[in-house]
Amino acid sequence: MSKRVLLIIGGGIAAYKSLDLIRRLKETGAAVRVVMTDAAQRFVTPLAAGALVGERVFTDLFDQAQEFDVGHIRLARECDLIIVAPATADLMAKAAHGLANDLASAVLLATDKPVLMAPAMNPLMWSHTATRRNFETLSADGIRFIGPNAGEMAERGEAGVGRMAEPTEIRDAALALLSDGPLKGKRALVTAGPTIEAIDPVRFLSNRSSGKQGYAIAAALAELGAEVTLVSGPTNLPAPAGVKRVSVESAREMLAASEAALPLDVAVMVAAVADWRPKQAADEKLKKDKTGLPAIDLTENPDILATLSKPGKKRPKLMVGFAAETENVEEHARAKIAKKGCDWIVANDVSGDVMGGAENQVLLITKDGVQSWPRMAKEAVARKLAAEIAAALTAKAPGRK
Ligand code: CTP
Repeated sequence: MSKRVLLIIGGGIAAYKSLDLIRRLKETGAAVRVVMTDAAQRFVTPLAAGALVGERVFTDLFDQAQEFDVGHIRLARECDLIIVAPATADLMAKAAHGLANDLASAVLLATDKPVLMAPAMNPLMWSHTATRRNFETLSADGIRFIGPNAGEMAERGEAGVGRMAEPTEIRDAALALLSDGPLKGKRALVTAGPTIEAIDPVRFLSNRSSGKQGYAIAAALAELGAEVTLVSGPTNLPAPAGVKRVSVESAREMLAASEAALPLDVAVMVAAVADWRPKQAADEKLKKDKTGLPAIDLTENPDILATLSKPGKKRPKLMVGFAAETENVEEHARAKIAKKGCDWIVANDVSGDVMGGAENQVLLITKDGVQSWPRMAKEAVARKLAAEIAAALTAKAPGRK
């Protein structure tokens, strides 16, 4: 069956790229319907978009003929995916608040289909706290994002993050969401990045994890069709396309967000969770005073991998942990499987430049044996691991004998 995409074009200069996006989507065999906001029609015409899709373009919530013909409810339901490109600050704000006073926003409120947004706006609008808030709300609601990218703006001399992702990038993200890959229908959790543990309102304990490996694994699982929740500590990385990101800071928040993602088929714990946190985070900033150096009393954080690995009805079918080792990698990793109760450990030797670097060299240790993978890009490690996970989950008794 060919896939049906509803493309909502918002009002921004990037709308001209959406015409190319229509072509790119049609090249994949998808059937494309187009909704344009009033503002979008200032940038490109319904005639141009209509000529590319080969049918009328929908523009008006209150046009009797349009509503009788197809109507916003049918537009919202008769598709497999909705893409909003460009997703303007205004459209994001409306969707975050459930407003529905035009066709585009009414369709977004009326749909139960996956939604992919490709934001495009001036960098100052993108970094404004209101847009940040709306982005977090929409991400938590399950809306997927692609971009925005960094680069030159349409305004002369301005640069920063705010350019719409390229049509081919949006197409690829859409294909991932529409994929009938081997993990279709499977629910996956990935934890990534560091955690930060407050000492006082301005200071914290943390580590050097960049989140790259975890983000790449989340993206690879999504590419195989899994429904992925990425619980992430603070990183500088954009959420991978087709992935629901939940942003957290502390280990305890990471545990709560991970448990909220249950039930799961697979959980891959890549985060560098801080093992300890200050027993009591001070309410006020610690001051230098005559009492000398402050002592920071530490207490142990919950172990997320061990907690989710506990036997029981809710245990994910396949629990995968990571181990950062500097010596006797395999031996230590095996001990970790036993200690944490997980099924697999991906062990990496972090004595070199792995943390924050682009490449990784790992051993995959399961109850059945060890695979030693050559050094490769973190994305390649991610794709290989996702393929192993797909093979295990589609076998009879995943991760178990
Ligand atoms: N982990 C976790 N929660 C913690 C600590 C670790 O979920 N509080 C997970 C990590 O995400 C990773 C694995 O457990 O999947 C790593 O275990 P850890 O015991 O921290 O091992 P190392 O980082 O390898 O460190 P160490 O050798 O000091 O135990």
